[in-house]
Amino acid sequence: MADSIRNKVAKDYHLEIAPPKQDFFAKGLGHGDWGMKNRLSRLFNPKSGNTVMLAFDHGYIMGSTSGLERIDVTITPLAEYADVLMATRGAIRSCISPTVNKPICLRATHDASVLKNDMSVGGGCGADMEAALRMNASAVAIQCFVGGAGESESLETLCRAVDAGERYGMPVLGVTAVGKEMERTTQYFLLATRILAELGASFVKTYYCEGFEKVVAACPVPIVIAGGKKLPEKDALTMAYKAISDGAKGVDMGRNIFQSEHPTAMCQAVAKIVHEGYNDQQAYEYYQELA
Ligand code: R5P
Repeated sequence: MADSIRNKVAKDYHLEIAPPKQDFFAKGLGHGDWGMKNRLSRLFNPKSGNTVMLAFDHGYIMGSTSGLERIDVTITPLAEYADVLMATRGAIRSCISPTVNKPICLRATHDASVLKNDMSVGGGCGADMEAALRMNASAVAIQCFVGGAGESESLETLCRAVDAGERYGMPVLGVTAVGKEMERTTQYFLLATRILAELGASFVKTYYCEGFEKVVAACPVPIVIAGGKKLPEKDALTMAYKAISDGAKGVDMGRNIFQSEHPTAMCQAVAKIVHEGYNDQQAYEYYQELA
């Protein structure tokens, strides 16, 4: 119990210092509560406003993927260079030490496996909010199939995750899946990203496309880009640079990092673009120096 006698008298109220402005750095997210903003501030670097998310959730639909045969061996050394780890609870719990002090974005849907050869279905709940809280997640990722056979189920899962996320201060990442029927057009990404944001996603993951600056402008919350299939390192850095230049707030990148010839160098080069204003050429030179 605090002593009630002989305490120093409170007198320094700093009357000359204005109280801090409480604007929040992340687009469209200034009206959430403290817990939500605190988690968002772990996901996105408050100084740059951006994030490097390392995605290694591919096994949940693809099984053992090149570069992820042994997550404990390949991802653990990369973790320190990423801002956020994005994966399933099974992969994180079994392969990543709880002492790795990085925010988790938990893949929280189950979707069709590669055997179905149809990335337009899925969207069932793969981990509920209680599971996310137990994993000390900083966000949950919900894959949505706008325009695909799985549209209705996946959007329902998104809405329920947003409801639960608002109850507990957990941001929801809405992921735009691109299935067989969906073309990777500006029009498609304008539609899909906006729908996910309108349904309450705190941030949205999509692919880089022509007219990306319009997709960013029309989406009221931050956008991060997926990397997609493995490209030559220079091309992947160019994609990241263009996305950041067009207003993306980061990457949620997997194969272009963990399938790189030099994964830690690649992760650090991406971070230079995302956080330090490097262009693609500068980042590629940096990659070559480290490789
Ligand atoms: C899709 O949602 C996947 O599960 C990955 O998280 C995503 O595609 C990012 O990985 P990559 O950069 O390899 O495309």
